[in-house]
Amino acid sequence: MKKLNFLLSVWLLSSTLGAQTNQSLPQLGKDSVKNVIAAMALQDKVCMVMGLGDGSWKNPATGPKTVLLQGEAGVTYSIPGLSITPTVLTDGPAGLRIEAHPTGETHPFYCTAFPTATAMASTWNVSLEEQVGKAMGNEVLEYGSDVLLAPALNIQRNPLCGRNFEYFSEDPLIAGKMAAALVRGIQTNGVGTSIKHFEANNIETNRTSVNAVISQRAMREIYLRGFEIAVKEGNPWTVMSSYNRINGFYTSQNKDLLTTILRKEWGFKGMVMSDWGGGDDAVAQMNAGNDMLMPGDTQRSILMEAVKNKTLCEKVLDRNLTSILNFIVKTPRFKGFVPTLQPDLVAHAEVARTAATEGMVLLKNNNATLPFKKVKRIALFGKTSYRFIVGGTGSGEVNYDHSASIDEAMTTAGYKLVTPAADHYKQSIDSVMTNTKEQDKKHVIDFEPEFSLSQAFIDAQVKNSDIAVITIGRQAGEGADRTVENFSLSENEKALIHNVCKAYHAAGKKVVVVLNIGGVIETADWRNEPDAIMLAWQPGQQGAYALVDLLKGTVDPSGKLAVSFPMKYADVPSANTFPGEPKDNPVNAFYTEGIYVGYRYYETFDVPTAYPFGYGLSYTQFRYSDVTLSDTVFNHEITVKLKVTNVGKVAGKEVVELYLNAPKKQIDKPTQELKAFAKTKLLQPKESQVMIFTLNARDLASFWSGTSAWVADQGSYQVRIGSSSENIQAKATFTLPQQLIVEKDHNVIYPNFLLNVLTPKEQE
Ligand code: BGC
Repeated sequence: MKKLNFLLSVWLLSSTLGAQTNQSLPQLGKDSVKNVIAAMALQDKVCMVMGLGDGSWKNPATGPKTVLLQGEAGVTYSIPGLSITPTVLTDGPAGLRIEAHPTGETHPFYCTAFPTATAMASTWNVSLEEQVGKAMGNEVLEYGSDVLLAPALNIQRNPLCGRNFEYFSEDPLIAGKMAAALVRGIQTNGVGTSIKHFEANNIETNRTSVNAVISQRAMREIYLRGFEIAVKEGNPWTVMSSYNRINGFYTSQNKDLLTTILRKEWGFKGMVMSDWGGGDDAVAQMNAGNDMLMPGDTQRSILMEAVKNKTLCEKVLDRNLTSILNFIVKTPRFKGFVPTLQPDLVAHAEVARTAATEGMVLLKNNNATLPFKKVKRIALFGKTSYRFIVGGTGSGEVNYDHSASIDEAMTTAGYKLVTPAADHYKQSIDSVMTNTKEQDKKHVIDFEPEFSLSQAFIDAQVKNSDIAVITIGRQAGEGADRTVENFSLSENEKALIHNVCKAYHAAGKKVVVVLNIGGVIETADWRNEPDAIMLAWQPGQQGAYALVDLLKGTVDPSGKLAVSFPMKYADVPSANTFPGEPKDNPVNAFYTEGIYVGYRYYETFDVPTAYPFGYGLSYTQFRYSDVTLSDTVFNHEITVKLKVTNVGKVAGKEVVELYLNAPKKQIDKPTQELKAFAKTKLLQPKESQVMIFTLNARDLASFWSGTSAWVADQGSYQVRIGSSSENIQAKATFTLPQQLIVEKDHNVIYPNFLLNVLTPKEQE
C-alpha cells in the first residue's frame, strides 16, 4: 500500500501534462498518434491503458474522477495536455443502460428497452436489426456516451446459460450476421460498439475462472465464426475479451486469440478491452494485445513495476496505446459533440414494437385458434401476464420508462378482461410486493413461484370469457446459470395449464399459452394441452403490445427459432458436461460435443426435438418454386435463386433458410448447416418475391485441425431450401470436382487436455 501511495504521489508531482492544454506538446487529432505517445511519460502511458475504476482513484492529470454520465459502466483516462479526452462506455445489448434518474438533472434519462438478442435473432431480419441498432446508437449519442458495450454474441451452447437472453443463437451464422447488423446500425451514429464476450463465454457458473476446453475445429466452426463475421462485416470499434479461460488461458491473456486470430487473420483494426475485472495478469494482458483494462484501477503499479523490471516492454504499451488513441479520436466526446439528452423515445418505441412483433414465434396453432376470432372477453392467467418480463437481469437490463403488461395491452386493444382472474392476480402480486424490500421489488415477481388456483376458481371464469390466455415466465441473468428444475415447468405451472385446458375445453373454448422466457424451456410434456402456443421471448418494453398485435392478427407472425427446443434437457448434447467439472464448482468445462451444437447435433444423431431450429408458424402459407443454381459445377461461387409466393389469405413475411449438405470424404460433418438466410418483404396474398443467395468456397469448407485449414471436400453438395431446418421445400445439387483448400490459418489454441469429441458413427 505504501508503495502504491508513493507511486501515486510521484505521478501527481511528475505529470507534466496537467489540466491546461500545452500548445508546445503534440495534440491528439492534430499531431500523429505516434508523436502524442512519444510525448507521454511512462506513468501517463500506464494510466492510459486502463479505465478510471470505480472513481476512488484520481486521475493525476485532472484530479478526482468526474462523473460524465450516471450509470455508465466505465470511463477511460484523459490527458488534457495532449488533448486526450475521456470516453464513456455503457452497457448493453438490449439498449443503453444508464441511471434513469440522475442526481442534479431536471428530467429522467429513460432509454428504450429493445427486444433481447434471442428475440431479435428470431426475426431473422438483418435490416430490422440494423434499424434497431440505429435507434439504440442514437440514444448512446444523445445521452453522451461514446461506446455501447454490445452486441453479445456468444453461442447458446446449453439452454441453462444464464445469459442466453443476451445472446442470439446456437448457430454462428445467424449470431454473426445479426451482430454485424447491430454494429453497423449503432455505429452509423458516430458512436462505437464492443462486441463481446470474446470468446466462448457460454457458462456463467464460475465465469471469471472456468476453463472451456474446446477442440480447434469447434473453436473455428462454432465459437469463433460468429465473431469473425461480426468483425469482417460490422467493423466494430472495439472488442471485449471474456472472463473465462479457453484451453488453459484467460482469453484476455491469450495472444493467439487477440493478436494472431483477431488482428492478423481477421484484420481487426480496433481496440480490445477486458471484461470488467477479467483476467489475473495485467502484464500478460498487455502482451496479448488486450489494449485496455476495464474498469482499471489496481494494475497501475503492477504495470509500472513491470516496465521498470523489464518484464514488460514499453513498446508493447505504445502499441496498445496506438489502438486506444485511434479509438478516442473517433468518439463524439473527442469531437466535441454536445448531447441533447433528449433522444426521440417515441420513435424508438415504435422500432422496438416492430422488432418485437417480428421476433415472436408461433409454435402451435391447432384449428386456427389464432388469430382471435369473435374474441371479446379474455381470461388472463399466470402472474407474468400482469408483470410481463421485458428483458433479463444484470448489465443487459435497460432503465426504461414504462412497459405495458399483457393485461394493459389487451385492454388498450379493446378486449375485456375477466375481472375475478385479473383481480386475483393483481392482489397476489400486490401482497408479494408489500412484503418485499424496496431494492428487491424490480424482479421479485419474475422469480416468484407461480400462484396456484383452485379448479373451482378456474371453472368460474369460463362462462364469462371467450378464450383463456396463460403466460408462463422465466427470468435469468448474469452471474448464474439456470437449473434443470428451472428448465421444466413447475408443478403449479403444469397444473395451471392442465386445469385451465380442462375447464375451457369442456366448454368448447380454446386456450393459448404465451411463453415470456429468455432461454429455452421444456415444452414436450405439456404442449399437447393448449390449442396454441406463442413464444414471445423477452421482447422489450413494447413486447406486450406486439404480442397483442399478433394474437389479434393485426400482424402475421413471422419469427422463427434461432435455437432448437429439445424434447427434454437430457437430450441437449452438453447436458452431462454443463456447467463443468466438478458440477457444483466447475474448474474445467469439456466441450465434448465438439461441433455438434444445437441442430447440428439433433439432426446428425437423429434426436427428435420438440421444435426444430428455424421453425415458426404463420397465419398464411408460402410456396417455394423455381429453384435454380447458377451452375451445376462449383467454380469460385454459386448463386441460388428461388421464388417465394404467398399462397395464403393474409399478408405476411417468410424467412427462407438455406442449408447445405456437404460430402463427408475425409472428416465427419453435420447432416446440414445453415449457410444463408433472408426474410421476404411483406408479401400480399398471391404476391411473389425472388430470393437470391450466393455461396462462396468458404461456405463449402470445414476446418481441418490437423492442417489448420478450411477445406472443401470434392464431391456432391446439396442445397436445401427450407422454411425450417426440418421442413425442406426444395433441393438442388452441384459438384465440386476437386478438393479445395480454401484458407490456411494459424495452428493455435489447442485443448490443454485430451478431448475426445463426439463423432457420428456412420458417415459415408
Ligand atoms: C459484463 C459485461 C459488461 C460489463 C460492464 C461485466 O460484468 O460481463 O457484459 O459489459 O460488466 O458492465
